[in-house]
Formats: sequence, C-alpha cells, structure tokens
Amino acid sequence: MMFWQNKTVVVAGGAGFIGQHLVQALLNANAHVHVIDNYSTGHTLEVQPRHPHQLTQQQHDICDPATVPHADVIFNLASPASPLHYQSDPIQTWKTNLLGTMHMLDHVLACEGTLVQASTSEVYGDPLSHPQKETDWGNVNPIGPRACYDESKRAAETLLIDAVRTKGADIRIARIFNTYGPGMGVSDGRAIPNFAAQASEGKPITIHGDGTQTRSFCHVSDTVAALLRLGMVADAKGEVVNIGNPSEVTILEIAELVNALFGNKSEILFTPRPIDDPQRRCPDISKARRLLGWTPQTTFKDGILTLYQSDRASLRV
Ligand SMILES: NC(=O)c1ccc[n+]([C@@H]2O[C@H](COP(=O)([O-])OP(=O)(O)OC[C@H]3O[C@@H](n4cnc5c(N)ncnc54)[C@H](O)[C@@H]3O)[C@@H](O)[C@H]2O)c1
Repeated sequence: MMFWQNKTVVVAGGAGFIGQHLVQALLNANAHVHVIDNYSTGHTLEVQPRHPHQLTQQQHDICDPATVPHADVIFNLASPASPLHYQSDPIQTWKTNLLGTMHMLDHVLACEGTLVQASTSEVYGDPLSHPQKETDWGNVNPIGPRACYDESKRAAETLLIDAVRTKGADIRIARIFNTYGPGMGVSDGRAIPNFAAQASEGKPITIHGDGTQTRSFCHVSDTVAALLRLGMVADAKGEVVNIGNPSEVTILEIAELVNALFGNKSEILFTPRPIDDPQRRCPDISKARRLLGWTPQTTFKDGILTLYQSDRASLRV
C-alpha cells in the first residue's frame, strides 16, 4: 500500500459505516485523511491515527459549497444508505447525491486529483438479468419510494461520466453491493444489523416477505480493499466497477444462520415485503478481478462471526 503514503485524501461521509473502515485503512497506509461529514447517519470517529496530524475533520453538509483542503484523492461516500434513512427525507437524498456530488466534482477538478464515487447496486433496480454486469442498464421504478436513492445515484453516475468525457476528469465509480460488518447501526433498518440485534436479545427475527429473495453480502474489509484498489490503479479513469461478493444467499438462510450463532430459539416472523424490493441481487465481479486484481476474501460464515463479541453484536446502538 505504498501508493497511499503521504497522499492527502478527503473522505466525504467518512464518519459512516464504510467510511470509518476506509479512513482507518488509509491511516494504516500512512495517508493524511480529511473527513467531511454532516453526521446525519455518521457518528463520532473511532479511528486510530498513527500521529495527531494525520487526521482532520470538518462538520459540513456537501450540499453546500465549502473550502476543502487540496486532495490527491477524494472518496465520496456521503449519502444516506439504508432505505429507512434515504426514504425519511427524499429531497435531502436527492440534494446530497446531486448537489453534493457536483461539489465533489468541482473540488476534484480544482485539485486535478482522482474522485472515487460510491454508487450502488441499486442502480440495477429489480434486475432483469443475473448476475448483474456493469453493462446492464437497470430496471428502476422512477416514481417508487426507493427512487430518490436509486435515481439520484444513477444521475450522479451520469454527471460524473459526462465530466470524464467533457473535462477529462479522473473519476472512478464503485457500484457497491450490500456490505456488512462491525460498526453498523442497529437502528438503520438493514437486514444484518436488524437480525443480529433481534437475535442477541432473544427476540424473533422479522423477515420482509417469505425470505426467498437473495442478496450477496460483502464483508466491509473486502469492500474497503476494493475501494482502495480503485483509487490507486493506473488505468481505471472513467471506469464503473461492481464491488460485491458473488455468493448469493437467501434472506431466510441469513436469519437461520444468525439465530444459530446466537443460540436464539425464537421463531422467525414474516412481514409484508416493501414496495420495489428486488428479488435477486448478485454481482458479476469479473471486471473488478481483471481491473483491480481484487476478489473478496471473507466468506459469509466467517464474516458474520466478526459481528459478534462473545454473545453480543458488535453493532452501534
Ligand atoms: N453499506 C452498503 O451496503 C452500501 C451498498 C451500496 C452503496 N453504498 C454507498 O456507500 C456509501 C456509504 O454507505 P454506508 O453504509 O457507510 O452509509 P452510512 O449512512 O453509514 O454513511 C454515510 C455517511 O455520509 C454522511 N452524509 C450523508 N449525507 C451527507 C451530506 N449531505 N453531507 C455530508 N455527509 C453526509 C452520513 O452522516 C454518514 O456518515 C453511501 O454512499 C452508500 O450509498 C453502501
């Protein structure tokens, strides 16, 4: 990881779940890191710099322009990520992913640096083909309750790729699939922290739908390794890359595994499925393998164990 040594890296959304893991990895690689966050879903930084001057932070909403330090690389992770959060204020979700991304674009152009944009597998919507390839156009309901996130992330991709074409900007887009790991918030409504919190309290796990829908969960350590590779490889300018773990599991299998790990004997409860919830999600990662020389290392069974400290979930309350 010599690449990151003494680089100045701005991480927008660095106080969030993936952000804090990314910031720690950058600090470990001897980068200077500047975190920008409005702390809407993020929390106090729990990272360990090697020396006091290695890390700075700025409380700021990226929807507003700001003076941000010169950066070699910017990671733009700032966006609500769980349906609960992005649907609670859809207009703010739009502003963050459009205005906020525009401000990050202005900054990277001024710095002549590299921007790594956190996009999402949600750009594929309820996919028509499996596994999803970067060339798929997606199947998104533009007026559904999830559209504020899916469509604003799609629009941000369009904006950034236009900037690559017209301004020669060095932008790389990560289409991140479901990521999990220590530090997720129990109240953010995502399946794994929800299940872990319920099972750790001996309560019934609640599943939306019949549990046959699949997801491909990638451990946060693998997601961060891929983001770092995407920020540093020489020939990734203008590339869009799926980052995820291609092993598909059903939601019911996850609930059963979590119950077994916690010794939770409570039954599983089934509740109505949210509107536009995708039935299948699985990344084709052949491009990430080729371009980044990356492949996920953590199996789901091993990864889920990192969520537990003895009989408690290592989640934020
Ligand atoms: N976790 C996943 O499974 C997943 C999957 C696909 C894509 N992503 C993307 O990765 C990124 C990080 O996701 P996460 O799971 O860490 O989410 P998170 O909610 O934990 O972190 C997002 C961070 O962005 C900050 N933020 C939100 N709006 C902001 C604004 N307007 N200005 C400044 N800061 C703002 C929040 O306070 C938080 O610290 C997001 O862009 C998300 O869309 C995540």
